[in-house]
Amino acid sequence: MKLKTVNFIGFVILGTVILSCSPKTEEPETIKDAYAEFFDIGTVLNAWQILGNDSAAVNVAIKNFNTVTAENAMKWEKIHPEPGVFNFEVADKIVEIAEQNNMKVIGHVLLWHSQTPKWVFFGEDGELTSRDTLLARLKNHIEVVLGHYKGKIHGWDVVNEAFNDDGTQRNTLWKKIIGDDYIQKAFEFAAEADPNTELYYNDFNMYKPQKVDSVIKMVNDLREKGVKIDGIGMQGHYGLKDNPLLNEFEASVKAYSELGVKVMITEMDITLLPFPSPGNGADVGMRFELEEGLDPYKEGLPDSVKVELAGRYSDLFRVLLKYSNSVSRVTIWGVNDLYSWRNNWPIRGRSDYPLLFDRQNQPKLVVDSLITLANQYKN
Ligand code: XIL
Repeated sequence: MKLKTVNFIGFVILGTVILSCSPKTEEPETIKDAYAEFFDIGTVLNAWQILGNDSAAVNVAIKNFNTVTAENAMKWEKIHPEPGVFNFEVADKIVEIAEQNNMKVIGHVLLWHSQTPKWVFFGEDGELTSRDTLLARLKNHIEVVLGHYKGKIHGWDVVNEAFNDDGTQRNTLWKKIIGDDYIQKAFEFAAEADPNTELYYNDFNMYKPQKVDSVIKMVNDLREKGVKIDGIGMQGHYGLKDNPLLNEFEASVKAYSELGVKVMITEMDITLLPFPSPGNGADVGMRFELEEGLDPYKEGLPDSVKVELAGRYSDLFRVLLKYSNSVSRVTIWGVNDLYSWRNNWPIRGRSDYPLLFDRQNQPKLVVDSLITLANQYKN
């Protein structure tokens, strides 16, 4: 018995010596690890990936990101397509992937004017439904979905895109039927349905000064009424040179930080393609035809633009690092360039390169730049 023990210890020592002498293939640092002490780094998975058809992309997600959002699977039209019919299949799978790989799940989204079925707003007579009916439908939707995922979702985008760039409330069927207090109601229903999940307001163009003012006012109003709101999601569908300018970006991040809520970039991507209209943002309903000159990188991206992309991401992350006491997460809207919605919005069928990993799932120059940047901020 004694001899066996001695042998065993000897074996372990020998094994350790061999292991520590053998040449190590150093794994490069991942972006989630580089930013671990500052904020979470998230990604988004589409249904194709969630259902197991693209394990390479899912592996990139698991290895490099620590939070995950479903690109479409938790939107009303997918998860609650008909009255009384809930379809949790794809959404359940992403929660499972996250649980198995120690990732936080972000719920996207409970109330939005897009990707919401028509029946939600209309009665059987084809007329717009009443305030009470729509509130009851919203409450039921939130209760069932949050109930199903109780304890499994780190935070929910409760309301998406309620304001215009000029700070006025967007004229949606939610507002038209329920009235201006629909935002408050959505947050109240969510807080009741799951008191332990974080609740966020999410929107694009969140750096535009009038929008910033309105969102701050909304947060203050909700708080005065004792309604829970934990964070602000700035979608972050950005451009290479402006949209936003760095100073307006910083001013908005600072303003939200000073509110004492969590600040998140929730859907970050940086398009490299010409934008076909003077406005920008991320209105999913916006569509343009492909014209000459609007798809310049079909055959690949010049090195100089790769460098520009890395520089632009770094400039924006530098601001986020400066406010890292308030910034809790940056989610990149897609694992790799191949599946980015930017290839098809606002013009279908272009080749964009807005994300951190290329079409072959290889980290782009920008990943290295962002990791180097994070390390500069460590003591
Ligand atoms: C986009 C998805 O990426 C697409 O697959 C889908 O066809 C349309 O919606 N703002 C949001 C996201 O809040 O839900 C949108 O996602 C992009 C803009």
